[in-house]
Order: sequence, then C-alpha cells, then structure tokens
Amino acid sequence: MLAGKRILLIIGGGIAAYKALELVRLIQKAGGSVTPVLTRAGSEFVTPLSVGALAKSKVHEALFDLTSEAEMGHIELSRSADLLVVAPATADLLAKMAGGRADDLASTLLLATDKRVLVAPAMNVRMWQHPATQRNLGVLRADGVLMVGPDEGEMACGEYGPGRMAEPAAIVQAILEAIGAALGGGPLAGRHVVVTSGPTHEAIDPVRYIANRSSGAQGAALGAALRDLGARVTFVTGPAAVPPPGGVQVVRVETAAEMAAAVEAALPADAAVMAAAVADWRIANVSGQKLKKDRSGKAPALEFAENPDILALVSQGSRRPRLVVGFAAETTDVVAHATAKRARKGCDWIVANDVSPGTGIMGGAENAVTLISDAGAEVWPRMGKDEVARQLAARIAEALR
Ligand code: C5P
Repeated sequence: MLAGKRILLIIGGGIAAYKALELVRLIQKAGGSVTPVLTRAGSEFVTPLSVGALAKSKVHEALFDLTSEAEMGHIELSRSADLLVVAPATADLLAKMAGGRADDLASTLLLATDKRVLVAPAMNVRMWQHPATQRNLGVLRADGVLMVGPDEGEMACGEYGPGRMAEPAAIVQAILEAIGAALGGGPLAGRHVVVTSGPTHEAIDPVRYIANRSSGAQGAALGAALRDLGARVTFVTGPAAVPPPGGVQVVRVETAAEMAAAVEAALPADAAVMAAAVADWRIANVSGQKLKKDRSGKAPALEFAENPDILALVSQGSRRPRLVVGFAAETTDVVAHATAKRARKGCDWIVANDVSPGTGIMGGAENAVTLISDAGAEVWPRMGKDEVARQLAARIAEALR
C-alpha cells in the first residue's frame, strides 16, 4: 500500500517518541521506507541508534552536518520524500511551523519542503488547550498541514484529556490517505462535495446582527478531511472564528439567504455536508438606519421571518446530491429530535450532537456525535473534531463508492 513511498519522519521531543519506533515498523510493513530526523529534544527520548537500526537508514540530526550536506543537502532531503510526517509533533514544533521558523534541521526541512506535511500532535492537555497552540493549529490547518489526533486519555504526566499522540496504526492510515490524495487517487478523487460551515449573521440594522455561537471548527475539519481524501470541496462559510482549510474553494457569506444562493450556485455535487449553524430566522423589519434609544425607554420590537432551510431545499431539490448530510445541534432528546429532523428535511444522514452548556462542544475542540441514517442511530465516542471529520469523510467516501 505504501510500496516505493518515502516518508521523512521527524521525531520531536516528547514521551510519545517511543511510539515513533512502532510507527517506523508499521510504515515499513506497509511497504514504505523511512528517513528519520530526530530533533535535539527527540534524541532525549529515543536514541539515534534505535531509530536508525529500525529504519535501516541514517538518522539526520543536525542542520549543519558537513557530511550530510555533502551527500544530500537539507533542501534535497525535504523534497525527496513523498510525505513529511511529524510524530510526535510537540507544541514547540507546531509553533515553529506556524511561525515559519527554521532554526534547526526539523524546522528547516518543514519550511523548505514542497511536499505535504502530516503532524501527529502530542503534548500535555493544558498545552494542547492553550490559545497559543490552538491558534497555531488554526494557522497550520489553513496552510494545508494535515493532522491526525491527538487522542483523549490518561497522559504520562497523570492528567486526563486530549493530547495523547494518535496510535501508530491511525497515523499509518492518515499517511495512506495523504499519499492517496496527493497522487489524485484518494477515494473521493473526482468527486465534488459542498460543505457549509460556521454561523450566519442576520442584520438588525447597519451595525447590529443576531448570530449564534458556532465557531466553524467542525465544518473546517470536515472540509479538510474531505479534501484529504481527494474531493474537490466547495466550502461555503459564514463569519466563522476558525479559518477555512487550505486547498478548497472558499465562498464567504454573511446571511442564510446568501448561503442558500451560494450552495445553489455550487451544485451539482456528489455530496453536500451542511455543518453550518444557519440562523432559523432573519429580521423582517431590518432598519436602514442605526436604531436609536427611545426617550420613553421603549425597546424596539424586532420582527422575525423564517430563513430558507438550505438543507431541506438541497435534499428535496431537483439537483439533489447523491448523499446529503445534515447536522443537528440539540440540547435535549438528541436522538429523537435528530431522527425527526432527518425525516422532515429529507437528508440521508444526520450527525447529531449534544451542545448543552457544560459539554464544551460548541466552540470546543471535541465532539460527541450520533450518526443517524436509515440504519438507525450509531453513537460515536467523544473525540476531537478532526477525528470526527476524518471518520465522517471516510464514511462519505464509502457511501459514494
Ligand atoms: O433545524 P436545524 O437548524 O436544527 O437543522 C440543522 C441542520 O440543518 C444543519 O445541517 C444545518 O446546516 C441545516 N440548516 C440549513 N438551513 C437552515 C437551518 C438549518 O441548512 N435554515
């Protein structure tokens, strides 16, 4: 499956580095070869000797290594691979990548490459959740960097939460997908998928609007995951907090009406995935002027008009994609409401999630979803939004096969 493929594996400094040894073995088992690069911190956790012996290759460590430079310069090294994999990708390595720094061999290779990069983050929960790390991840996603994991669980430091490096088998799966997509041979190659994402803003007057708390994180992850499987993605997004993924056709909209028009214009498609949190109502009596405070203290009365239901329109329209997937954010009776929603709107699948306050799902990095189809309700364990996206994209590819 990876026959003849060359993986440049950058091993960062973290307790998860020991899993990189297993990763080397699995890549080789799949037919690929590994050129290992150890960061200075990485070499504190695994030795060049063990990595080199397993990989049956020279281990590259220093930026200014005269014999290496004579044999193969770092530019050449970064480009002769089919894919760059960073595992474990520490918070520091991700920060360097996001900032475009090149102060050691690993970061220089990552900046100099013309190949795709897959990172498997691994770090302490707090470091993972830190706004700086999340900001860096947003930047990297927008740059088209691929990600796998992290998983949630017990950490080496005794804390619990997201931050554990993805298991080597999952990383190999992500490598296969990344290489497949790069060769144009991904399971969704030749397919067009329309994704909606983010909230919509509905004007009250020229300066005010109503909106919702959707961050667009799940939609962005889905767009990236579908792209990684080779799909051509039209990504219709409202004003989201999370940047859209790289390598997709981005259409920016504000209102539900604009989103409906953009989706209509993007059809035909093989699949539509409506992850946007579309406002159900817009203001019927939008004021042309900024509303002023009334001297009598009377508050203005807003009148609402129902917005077009884009999911229902697409599901019931004449240019219906073969597969239409809707989302349902609920706070009570998740499965019952989502099942009814699926029937009412006429979509094939509903991805239901509980966004009650306290779940941390709205605006957070994780999601706990139930996939509702004609096969019934399938409860997925709580996992990162990226992982939900990858699994959903894989299911979409299966359904379109
Ligand atoms: O009815 P509800 O808003 O809960 O349905 C959610 C699903 O319907 C999501 O997939 C959302 O993107 C879609 N939707 C839509 N247009 C609307 C309202 C919801 O496409 N006006």
